[in-house]
Amino acid sequence: MYQIVSAKELAPKIKLFEVYAPDVAAKSKPGQFIMVVVGEKGERVPLTIAGYDAEKGTISFAFNEVGKSTKQLGLLKEGDYIWNITGPLGTPSEIKNFGKVLCVAGGVMIAPMLLQVKALREAGNTIVTVIGVRIKELLFYREEIKALSHRFYVATDDGSEGYKGLDFLKDIVSKENFDRCIVMGPVATLKTVSEITRPFKIPTIVTLMPPMVDGMGMCGVCRVTVGGQMKFGCVDGPEFDGHLVDYEELVKRQRMLLPEERLSSVLWELGGCSCGRKQA
Ligand SMILES: Cc1cc2nc3c(=O)[nH]c(=O)nc-3n(C[C@H](O)[C@H](O)[C@H](O)COP(=O)(O)OP(=O)(O)OC[C@H]3O[C@@H](n4cnc5c(N)ncnc54)[C@H](O)[C@@H]3O)c2cc1C
Ligand code: FES
Repeated sequence: MYQIVSAKELAPKIKLFEVYAPDVAAKSKPGQFIMVVVGEKGERVPLTIAGYDAEKGTISFAFNEVGKSTKQLGLLKEGDYIWNITGPLGTPSEIKNFGKVLCVAGGVMIAPMLLQVKALREAGNTIVTVIGVRIKELLFYREEIKALSHRFYVATDDGSEGYKGLDFLKDIVSKENFDRCIVMGPVATLKTVSEITRPFKIPTIVTLMPPMVDGMGMCGVCRVTVGGQMKFGCVDGPEFDGHLVDYEELVKRQRMLLPEERLSSVLWELGGCSCGRKQA
């Protein structure tokens, strides 16, 4: 059992938990993820590590309350216990002095991007960061990321704050020389940014979030196609070359369990199913 040391709401339906997990904190690196099991009968939910402190023995992660498990997780409070946490999993990010790095994060993935930006800045890079959300009410970590970046932009889908959409990046990328681009967020963001950087041959690293079960390379559920080759998102990734990912296939795989996910969420909301009953 892993105790929640602090629980914060970053934006509506987006929470950040700091959890006492010294075994995980001791080995965590940027780019890795954990598998969280909320309660005794819960499923394994992959979540990206957004912070770690080996001395305190804590890790932090942010999550969007989108379905049964993440809504169940969102009911927990400071002092409560999470049934199980496994990690760190996945291949860590390559962190070194690349030169000038463009970091683009969308939605809940703004939280783990803060960890990437910190590490890349410490490695001596010049950082240009973009954070993007649907509407301005979903923005968080503006000041934290801005403080670590040499330049900083905000984008919203509806234009309610900052730039409207990510099209403005075309101009920036065409005028400046970037040595690397890092993208975290929904598939649409990964794909859009990869298409913007492709003509300029900027190495672009995207974090993929395919469906996962074990997270350890055994079940094959997290299969993705990268450069025509089959890869396992959990062990070969979750970071891949954004110019080589088959995004259409990824979207299809993310949607394959949609009816079951919706049913599970509705049954849990109604409190009428033994597998989805309202318990942590
Ligand atoms: C390596 C990895 C790292 C991740 N890191 C984070 C993170 O840091 N924070 C966070 O909030 N989420 C993250 N996710 C996604 C997260 O695991 C899912 O949102 C979660 O499993 C949903 O579980 P649920 O039971 O609440 O919802 P479900 O009932 O499983 O799904 C509800 C809705 O969310 C959609 N969904 C489910 N899984 C994904 C996914 N992987 N990508 C996109 N849409 C999905 C479904 O299509 C459905 O519409 C990560 C996923 C992976 C594979
Ligand atoms: S989640 Fe099972 S192999 Fe990757």
